[in-house]
Amino acid sequence: MTILVLNGPNLSRLGKREPHLYGARALADINRSLAESFPEIQFEFFQSEIEGELIRKLFEAEDEGKVQGVALNPGALAHTSIALRDAIASIRLPVVEVHLTNVFARETFRRHSFVSEVCVGVISGFGEMSYRLGVQALLWRLRSEVGK
Ligand code: DQA
Repeated sequence: MTILVLNGPNLSRLGKREPHLYGARALADINRSLAESFPEIQFEFFQSEIEGELIRKLFEAEDEGKVQGVALNPGALAHTSIALRDAIASIRLPVVEVHLTNVFARETFRRHSFVSEVCVGVISGFGEMSYRLGVQALLWRLRSEVGK
């Protein structure tokens, strides 16, 4: 089983970026811990500041057929990108939306995500643990018929 962990704009700055909100750990550290938590799973990690590159990566994952599911932290693109939403809607791969922070407890503009309705679910507010919970949810979804 291979899971693609996709991170959008500004998540490359984790560790340096507003650590009171996003924590002190870099994305590479978070990715390493995630892989250690699921030794039976293969991970592919990809981050981009660019909307089109994230979309291209989703299509590549779908077309190559090596990846079974996606954990996506779209960053601010969650709140702005209909293009990313349409890309997720156009593929069959299940995508779980992940946020480090609780986007519902912050500024009002973060309360709406264009991608949520085309994702299988949303995990928001658990810091680095959000990724682990996202992968866990994805595995449950992939292994279970319930909720499909
Ligand atoms: C974020 C939440 C978004 O609102 C914000 O723009 C981010 C990070 C999170 O992980 O909490 O870049 O996706």
